[in-house]
Amino acid sequence: MSDNEVSISRLDGVAAAASVQELADVLIDCVEGGASVSFMLPLARPAAVAFWTSVAQGVARGERILLVARLEGRIVGTVQLVTAQPENQPHRADVAKMLVCRSARRRGIGQRLLQAVDEAARAEGKTVLVLDTVTGGDAERLYARCGWLRVGVVPNYALMPDGALCATTYFHKQLGGAPA
Ligand SMILES: CC(C)(COP(=O)(O)OP(=O)(O)OC[C@H]1O[C@@H](n2cnc3c(N)ncnc32)[C@H](O)[C@@H]1OP(=O)(O)O)[C@@H](O)C(=O)NCCC(=O)NCCS
Repeated sequence: MSDNEVSISRLDGVAAAASVQELADVLIDCVEGGASVSFMLPLARPAAVAFWTSVAQGVARGERILLVARLEGRIVGTVQLVTAQPENQPHRADVAKMLVCRSARRRGIGQRLLQAVDEAARAEGKTVLVLDTVTGGDAERLYARCGWLRVGVVPNYALMPDGALCATTYFHKQLGGAPA
């Protein structure tokens, strides 16, 4: 299938609020697939919808940027840039909830979302990006491939959806050529 069928876009608060069901589908699919992204199994739809409703409110307040990937019109992937930071870190943002539906993986959507994150961050004047991801997961390779640098590993950081402890790896990315 061609890359042209995938489109990446930024949702404003209204569009985000209108998309909470589709975004919940993506989150539930990822958690059911074993992704450690804040939620435990079973993830009930009302909890997933409540999460995205809260995200949409944050987007409306200008605290975060929400990007989505659509495949043939349907949302199959998403990522957020949390731009609201303490006043001594105006140049920094966190990347959060990078999710691609299992059925849409391994076709470059994750990489395109990360490229869009970089562009959105630059447009906001953000030059230092930080994220953490489960150690040993698919996302670690993606971030390394997209120019993110490993900071280190925190053992026993979180739980997998089935309750097993997992480590997390912190990454950072310096935009704008600052030394790493
Ligand atoms: C991590 C995640 C977002 C990656 O999404 P994705 O869309 O599959 O990412 P990409 O397609 O860009 O890259 C994934 C792999 O597909 C490969 N790939 C990309 N395009 C391809 C193509 N056209 N044909 C074959 N393989 C391809 C990439 O090389 C990469 O290979 P690797 O895993 O061996 O390094 C996805 O696996 C996911 O949602 N995981 C669960 C949630 C999660 O853990 N999120 C991270 C939270 S921080």
